[in-house]
Amino acid sequence: MKVYPRIELDITFKDLRANLLSYFSWSEREEIISQIQSFWHTQKQTLVTLCVRTSLDLLLQALNLPPGSEIIMSAVNIAHMEEIIKKHHCIPIPVDIDLETLAPSVDLFKSSISNRSRVFILAHLFGSIIPLDPYVEICKSHNILLVEDCAQAFDGLRYLGHPEADISFFSFGPIKSCTALGGSVTLVQDKQLAQKMYNIEQIYPIKNEVWFFKRLLKYLCFKFLAIPKIFGIFVTCLDCLKIDLDHFISSLTRGFSKGDIQSQLRYRPPKGMLRLLQYRFKHLDSSHYDQRQQTAHQFLALLDKPDSYPGRKTMQHSYWLVPFVTANPKLLMQKLRIEGFDTTTGTTSLTALGEDSAQAKTLISTVLYLPIYPSVPTPEMTRLAQFVRLYSNGSEIRVCESLVGVSRRWGRGSGNAQTSFDETTSLRRLPQPLDTPVCESAKALKISRADITHPRAISLLPEKLDKPCNAVEFFGETSI
Ligand SMILES: Cc1ncc(COP(=O)(O)O)c(C=O)c1O
Repeated sequence: MKVYPRIELDITFKDLRANLLSYFSWSEREEIISQIQSFWHTQKQTLVTLCVRTSLDLLLQALNLPPGSEIIMSAVNIAHMEEIIKKHHCIPIPVDIDLETLAPSVDLFKSSISNRSRVFILAHLFGSIIPLDPYVEICKSHNILLVEDCAQAFDGLRYLGHPEADISFFSFGPIKSCTALGGSVTLVQDKQLAQKMYNIEQIYPIKNEVWFFKRLLKYLCFKFLAIPKIFGIFVTCLDCLKIDLDHFISSLTRGFSKGDIQSQLRYRPPKGMLRLLQYRFKHLDSSHYDQRQQTAHQFLALLDKPDSYPGRKTMQHSYWLVPFVTANPKLLMQKLRIEGFDTTTGTTSLTALGEDSAQAKTLISTVLYLPIYPSVPTPEMTRLAQFVRLYSNGSEIRVCESLVGVSRRWGRGSGNAQTSFDETTSLRRLPQPLDTPVCESAKALKISRADITHPRAISLLPEKLDKPCNAVEFFGETSI
């Protein structure tokens, strides 16, 4: 069976092959870096580093803030960003975000400013680009450095950071847009600050070329594995071996090992990575990001559940990811996996920062990332939308569970009833076998004919369902 993987690596076999072949040619490191810089048409200084985390660490070294300085940041980011801030003896102050715009609340931002606030890091999430204008004046008037984290927001060299941002970080890590399997471009407004960061970086050793070559081979294998038919076989094998897919993928794609992060960041990018970054910019097709946006719009229209889509009011969005919020993301993930769609709750990457960040916590505890990208054929996308609608609804799942009760009851009397229900309601797709106890929620369930989608199932249901009725009342306590 085909399984559509959770994310499509934004790199082609051709790009990877070109990078492999580039090992047979020679070019100067400085020359490659200056070519990379030349693609960024900006007045700002352009630094090319190992990753965004390296750039943040460089920035904090260059700023050399007094211990106890406060760094205000969007309440959703990867844990390492917060960890790096703490390593510099600064205090991260999270500001909760709005789920419709994904922007940190301007009022909360204002109220979190103190005389120790030095930096504000705003993260553009999932491919959205948040308008920075409301924050610019506030930062200026409080002498706060405005940093935008564009790690998830690269949209084909069209957004080159907000003109008033002091720093803009772009990431080209393995799962990012226009990936070079690593690397970051950091734009810096202040020449002196950029020079300081550069000088610190120049002392770092260069990351081993063999390390990058192994990474290249690993992602070549991933690219191959991500072909839906092959990924289907892979998922089945892992299931047979009782290996958790989520855990397996996140351990293989982890960029840095556990332990001290700072020492792992303090390297300059290897030449192989720089050559790939240069190649990617040279052959960049920005229309790919328009296509990604169109695909996401098409899918979200099919889904027709605007409330479940965080960031629905963002003005600019290139849909690096398509997040979907639902009460029970793990359950939805299981159901979709059975239908051939690999999704993830992403619990190992993005995290909610701060105890009081209610919206951020809600987002992280309810989000599921859906496999929506241009190579998913339209009929499959339609099928995914149908299943997401069906299974995220909750009541439909419970109806199926109620039917398990019915089929058990009927199954006791007649040998065939259970099978006919299995065939007509897709009950066979439920992960639990028919003889397991049915979920408690079915007891509180009101069902009607409209809750049942399959025509043959509808025809099998007695007339009593013409009026909504309580599932327990209808099926009888003992059968559920
Ligand atoms: C919002 C955000 N910031 C920063 C980073 C770190 O980027 P890099 O892997 O280039 O260090 C990531 C990576 O996932 C991210 O999603």
